[in-house]
Amino acid sequence: MKKELRKAIIAGNWKMNKTPVKTKTLIAELIPLVKEVASQNSGSACEVVICVPFTSLATAVEAVYGSSIKVGAQNVHFEASGAFTGEISAPMLKEIGVEYVIIGHSERRQYFGETDETVNKRTKAALTAGLIPIVCVGELLWEREADITEEVVSRQIKLAFAGISSSDAAKVVIAYEPVWAIGTGKTATAEQAQDACKLIRDRLTALYGKSVADSITVQYGGSMNAVNAAELVAKEDVDGGLIGGASLKAEDFTEIIKAASDGQ
Ligand code: 13P
Repeated sequence: MKKELRKAIIAGNWKMNKTPVKTKTLIAELIPLVKEVASQNSGSACEVVICVPFTSLATAVEAVYGSSIKVGAQNVHFEASGAFTGEISAPMLKEIGVEYVIIGHSERRQYFGETDETVNKRTKAALTAGLIPIVCVGELLWEREADITEEVVSRQIKLAFAGISSSDAAKVVIAYEPVWAIGTGKTATAEQAQDACKLIRDRLTALYGKSVADSITVQYGGSMNAVNAAELVAKEDVDGGLIGGASLKAEDFTEIIKAASDGQ
């Protein structure tokens, strides 16, 4: 019904994989494949983003030059500069040509102390610098089993967007990533993905109204692959995907891009 109002985005989250040299090789494989998908879809594939490690960002920005592929980071600090040893700020990313940044991935929440509050601060910092945040939300297995998925995801959304204006909210991408489906080979069913993405859109409607909520891209992530992508992205409220493992293989990633482009 409203799918045409928003952009389908397929984003690869390379996580802690690929040195700069290997980054260059994978991008060189991807570029002609993505171009071919676009040519089969009257010139436009869905938006394609690769979120690479910090050390590969500059290489990736250079390597995608002249193609339609965009580059994203996997985290960003919420201050613009200062005494934060080891951190990278949004203006630093922006200046080297990065366009997207993943915020609040469950691995950062689980292993690096990320909270809903820091997700909110990072989202604001990214928006201020002109980066597009990909904000990750999703429930743990025991939370789903305890039937509190709705509460968990609603809370994450509400807090991530606290104090963010509707014009800024419209620029944000959300990735629904059930934690039990990440790297486990256990994908959410298309119905589970649709239900959660619809829930997210309902929460956004409550916060910002229908026209803003209908324009926001809500991706699914968690063991999405060349085989299951088409069924997932065909769902009304699933606007593409955030892909881990399968984004490290050019052919598999391209199949997912193809599924999202056909499904547009
Ligand atoms: P996998 O696709 O490897 O399950 O990872 C999903 C993910 O965490 C993307 O951010």
